[in-house]
Amino acid sequence: MSMTKVNLIANGPMIVLGAITITHEDGTEEVKETRASFCRCGKSENMPYCNGNHNK
Ligand code: FES
Repeated sequence: MSMTKVNLIANGPMIVLGAITITHEDGTEEVKETRASFCRCGKSENMPYCNGNHNK
């Protein structure tokens, strides 16, 4: 079993490397097989994912 890794980018997203299942606020589930980048700044227009707006 491979470990899931989390990279925290300064003033940017949390990048999760590895297979994960995301449970959204409405209860729907989404599987990401290799990576997901989560917004930590609150500026994304594609929550919960980072869309690069943290650089603006
Ligand atoms: S961390 Fe990238 S848009 Fe928020």
